[in-house]
Amino acid sequence: MNRLDIYIRTKGKCTAKRVQVKFRAADDEADSYNGPELLSAIRALVADKHLEQSVSVHEAMCMSGCPVGPRMDMGAGSQRVMYFQRRKPTGRDDLITWASVDSVEEEIARTVMSNA
Ligand code: FES
Repeated sequence: MNRLDIYIRTKGKCTAKRVQVKFRAADDEADSYNGPELLSAIRALVADKHLEQSVSVHEAMCMSGCPVGPRMDMGAGSQRVMYFQRRKPTGRDDLITWASVDSVEEEIARTVMSNA
């Protein structure tokens, strides 16, 4: 099984900007997160579900001039998926807008399962 690496950007615009997203699948409503809050919530989720053996969560720097935060990248083996802020969906499986995400928990579960 490939390890899943999750990178959350926590500097610059990823801290200044917020995303409205449902975190847990069971949550009734979306909540607002900036990069550092997303990082803490994902670390707590991984610990809560005892996924430390298969999922590593990393803090990463923003790229200068990048306008798409908060940004999260998930990578397992050669597969890499980027989640970012944009109004319209991209239609691509590897470039996913936050607006297309049902919940962060389901995105992580799906990626872990597809790499099992
Ligand atoms: S705004 Fe932080 S990486 Fe793009």
